[in-house]
Amino acid sequence: MPDSRGAEPPDTTDLDRLRSVASGCHGCPLYQDATQTVFGEGTAGAKVLVVGEQPGDKEDLAGEPFVGPAGKLLDRAFAEAGFDRQALYVTNAVKHFKFKREGKRRIHQKPGRTEVVACRPWLLAELRAVRPDLVLLLGATAAQSLLGPKFRLTAHRGEPVEAPDDVAELVPSAVATVHPSAVLRAPDRDDAYAAFVADLKAAGKLLK
Ligand code: URA
Repeated sequence: MPDSRGAEPPDTTDLDRLRSVASGCHGCPLYQDATQTVFGEGTAGAKVLVVGEQPGDKEDLAGEPFVGPAGKLLDRAFAEAGFDRQALYVTNAVKHFKFKREGKRRIHQKPGRTEVVACRPWLLAELRAVRPDLVLLLGATAAQSLLGPKFRLTAHRGEPVEAPDDVAELVPSAVATVHPSAVLRAPDRDDAYAAFVADLKAAGKLLK
């Protein structure tokens, strides 16, 4: 059953300590079926903090964010847009895989607002530890986690967006774009990919 175990991040900017406490988080029911907490990857000195939705099947098993098909596309797009993935801190709005079983398959389920809100303190703790110059939000779940549920990705993708007062200090600049899985699913994948890379390039220009 969900309980309060590990639901609150400790007051530290030590990423290893945060990761260790997050591994025991029971702040929402998702820990019950997922293999493990998938915490962010990268160094505290990263200039760019990238936020996805939640780990997928491959990430849940590996314990690392963006190692599956969406991650491969993301690597390619970051390289094309001039980012070095090694210089990024990559994480997710929700740190457990939410899925339903269909036979042997585990089918991705979009996290609900309650799960996003329950996991938000961990994202804020990562922001406090990394102190990035730029936050890149991939998809509506990531964008709404940080910017609030009224944020509309379709209206503001690829442009600088202002963070709400409660997180403004942690988010000097932010850009939201589509999730790489949406590019993989797009009917015209080439166009969707080109638009995604264009958004990443526009975001990169905000770095000093
Ligand atoms: N999709 C995400 O949003 N995050 C991952 O880590 C993998 C796929």
